[in-house]
Amino acid sequence: MKTVRFGVIGCGLMGREFGSAAARWCHLTDMTVRPEIVAVCDTNPQLSQWFKDHFASVSQVTADYHELLANPDVDAVYIAVPHNLHAEFYCAAIKAGKHLMGEKPFGIDQAANETISACIADHPEVFVRCSSESPFFPAMQLIGRMLEAEAFGRIIEVNSGFLHCSDMDVTKPINWKRLLKFNGEYGCMGDLGMHACHMPFRAGWVPKNVRAVLSNIVPERPDGKGGMAPCETWDNATLLCTAADSDGNDFPLTIKTQRIAPGHKNTWYLEILGTKTSARWSSKQINTLEILEYTGGEQAWQVIDMGHEMAYKSLTGGIFEAGFSDSILQMWAAFLYEVENGKPISRFAGCVTPDEVALSHQLFTAALESHKTNTVCPL
Ligand SMILES: NC(=O)c1ccc[n+]([C@@H]2O[C@H](COP(=O)([O-])OP(=O)(O)OC[C@H]3O[C@@H](n4cnc5c(N)ncnc54)[C@H](O)[C@@H]3O)[C@@H](O)[C@H]2O)c1
Repeated sequence: MKTVRFGVIGCGLMGREFGSAAARWCHLTDMTVRPEIVAVCDTNPQLSQWFKDHFASVSQVTADYHELLANPDVDAVYIAVPHNLHAEFYCAAIKAGKHLMGEKPFGIDQAANETISACIADHPEVFVRCSSESPFFPAMQLIGRMLEAEAFGRIIEVNSGFLHCSDMDVTKPINWKRLLKFNGEYGCMGDLGMHACHMPFRAGWVPKNVRAVLSNIVPERPDGKGGMAPCETWDNATLLCTAADSDGNDFPLTIKTQRIAPGHKNTWYLEILGTKTSARWSSKQINTLEILEYTGGEQAWQVIDMGHEMAYKSLTGGIFEAGFSDSILQMWAAFLYEVENGKPISRFAGCVTPDEVALSHQLFTAALESHKTNTVCPL
């Protein structure tokens, strides 16, 4: 089995999710390539220590990412740091010749993303992808296969979103994800938007324009020191876009990203309504895919129990349910499979490409303008 030696820069929530996925790589039965974490970097030594405690393979621990990038034993890096650092860190990694999985939004704003895109264009030898695990749930994979088989007929409407409750509690102290300086003007769109865009963009549905309504529902939060601090970022965003299907027919596409979503803890959803077939899935009922095939006569939704039908084969028996950490493992399998084979195992089992992430920046930038001017903005 080929080994790709990884450095992890940013050992917080997502950095450690990767560590955990790498630690159970044996769960994937057909992979011919595996990650080995050899170097870690975080300004918080306790988080780097977590990697030292769990991975005998880690031989470099540093608080300076330049040192990690100078390490010739590192082939690839996963960078999971606050958004204000993306452009600097990602460009440095690409220039150092390291394959890169970068976290979304892949630049704090469109200018930062363009800087990263220019750097990628100058270094075609480096493989670069953006993290988003949303399509790797079995139901999403089946929807992807249905799209490839053109099962839906003419697309009538598509609704995609990511709703969660991380900011429902108004007494929750502020953190970097709620500060413009670190999180950026996109707010919840930068945090959650790429997940909601991943399937529609991979389907080839490019938004032509957007009308956005953005909400800052909780404008200040406890600062953790007994006072209050302004909470400047958008909590919720609803985007209504005109998109076109592969035959050039326009249809409405909504992308919703909410951090204050009553009734939701962490809900991904996708609904596709077509003239022949419709499908809807929500991670609330993670293994339930609903499909309506219209052949004339009565309309009836079928409720299908999805099992563990993963894009990248795993040990778990086919009838067992999938979860968040399974989708993370699948996303990493997709990254390494593509490093090894030059393309994903199937169209909807690939990580977000730099072009797709650039499109998300066009959309979120147009959404900011739309909200500001109360108008429909072209992309
Ligand atoms: N794919 C997903 O589902 C998902 C989920 C959450 C967050 N994210 C993304 O992951 C990235 C990180 O988010 P997180 O939730 O892991 O945040 P986090 O705060 O848990 O982790 C970020 C880490 O970066 C470290 N860091 C900050 N400055 C640094 C520097 N100069 N050098 C080295 N390390 C530094 C921090 O100490 C921290 O440990 C963001 O881009 C976020 O949007 C993705």
